[in-house]
Amino acid sequence: MEHMTSAPLLAARNISKRFGGVQALDDVTLEVRAGDVHCLAGENGCGKSTLIKMMSGAETPDAGTIDIAGTTHDRMSPAEALRAGVQVIYQDFSLFPNLTVAENIALAPLIAHKRKLVKPAALRRRAAEVVAELGVDLDLDARVEDLTVADRQLTAICRALAEQARVIFMDEPTTALTQREVRALFRVVATLRERGVAMVFVSHKLDEVLEISQHVTVMRNGRVVASGPVEEFDRASLGRAMTGRDVRDTRDVPEFDASASPVLRVEGLGLDDAFEDVSFDLRPGEVLGITGLLGSGRTEIAEALFGVVPAQRGRVEVDGAQVRIRDVSDAVAAGIGYVPSDRLTQGLFLDQSIADNVVAGSLDLHRARLGLLDRARLRTTISTFFAALRIKAASVDAPIRSLSGGNQQRVVLAKWLARDPRVLILNSPTVGVDVGSKEEILDILRREAARGKGIVVISDDVPELVSVCHRVLVVHQGRIRAAIDGAQVTEQEILAGLAA
Ligand SMILES: Nc1ncnc2c1ncn2[C@@H]1O[C@H](COP(=O)(O)OP(=O)(O)OP(=O)(O)O)[C@@H](O)[C@H]1O
Ligand SMILES: [Mg+2]
Repeated sequence: MEHMTSAPLLAARNISKRFGGVQALDDVTLEVRAGDVHCLAGENGCGKSTLIKMMSGAETPDAGTIDIAGTTHDRMSPAEALRAGVQVIYQDFSLFPNLTVAENIALAPLIAHKRKLVKPAALRRRAAEVVAELGVDLDLDARVEDLTVADRQLTAICRALAEQARVIFMDEPTTALTQREVRALFRVVATLRERGVAMVFVSHKLDEVLEISQHVTVMRNGRVVASGPVEEFDRASLGRAMTGRDVRDTRDVPEFDASASPVLRVEGLGLDDAFEDVSFDLRPGEVLGITGLLGSGRTEIAEALFGVVPAQRGRVEVDGAQVRIRDVSDAVAAGIGYVPSDRLTQGLFLDQSIADNVVAGSLDLHRARLGLLDRARLRTTISTFFAALRIKAASVDAPIRSLSGGNQQRVVLAKWLARDPRVLILNSPTVGVDVGSKEEILDILRREAARGKGIVVISDDVPELVSVCHRVLVVHQGRIRAAIDGAQVTEQEILAGLAA
């Protein structure tokens, strides 16, 4: 292909950036060619999102230059970035929820072209053009707030195209998508490539990186440690470049006593329009996986057990005693903990420190007899989890907002581990977490199970389920369709269960 030999469309050269004591970027150079998908890979906190912010003008580099289409900039303002054709699809997509799809796609660019009064028909026509150009199926008149995550993302991509994007940055675009939605996104990416748009794609899913990209750059601790055509990488070498060591991904489930009485017993759980007849036992030391496509009811089951949206029917026992779970406090009192999947909207106070967030979930456990906070014990708890989960931050007093995405996810986990519940339910515990740390988090789950907890992992990451679960339930349309046990727990069996 001819663009392979042409000059890069975008080149960030020798970019450095420091935040207080953290050297987030250290002499980073990145070259992106028109029509290429360039994957940016690396462990949590290595500087991927920070590098993107330099290109979009959201942050200013301490040193280095940014060349776009032949013009060199020492820094980008957001307006310059936009003019140069740089578009970032943020995780929240920055859309106007109460406007329609068509308005979100075409309003800003039309106004920018000095048409003060935009006729609705013209706007709709422009939006329809862009949607057709990308070959996506979007209802132009729907309000964005009523769309699925995947359709919001497509709307944001269409808007980027309407804004004459030449380079589109996507920071972990597939984390909240189902398999089918990922396929749809990849088709859109292929169309954009044909149009000569360059894309920079951040993902922690190695298979995805290898499939979608033409070029890969791996960062570690703010530096580029490897960069080259995708053909030069495979799963193992990519994992090694990211972590500096070999990443194992084999099945490793700790022993547990299958004859012990269950720590959690669920019988005939049901909730209208969500799930029905859900029954299972969980023994101390057991790790149970629950999988299913998005919309299968898997998350609703977890949320019912945690009292977020309680079940209407059925019976739940913890350690042999029946418990009524009408709200979250019932679940917590019964000894059930829940790590939600969406770190951005659930479970964290972004402006508070790591320490405050970890402790928020277990304050009552740290009150001394007289009702005073046991500060020493508190401090020990926090530093234990800070170290065990290798949370990358200046200190436990750093605000959550300053942490990288994957490190925020670890704080959610720390918060629940600190509470030490009998039953821990985790929804997609390693979403957004890098491959090396993923193994560490799974090791922590193994250890917690070995200590006698019952663990439920809700996940659609099949290798992860195989790696850590004794048993996997496949949920389909709100019902348990398959139960895969012991040696049967393999990728093939789970995929067959999902497809059946
Ligand atoms: N505004 C800020 N203030 C202080 N530190 C920051 C700020 N923004 C980023 N950092 C630090 O810079 C480093 C790089 O963060 P960045 O968000 O770029 O990581 P990342 O590679 O995107 O990680 P992840 O995969 O977890 O999203 C981290 O140590 C982070 O804590
Ligand atoms: Mg990031």
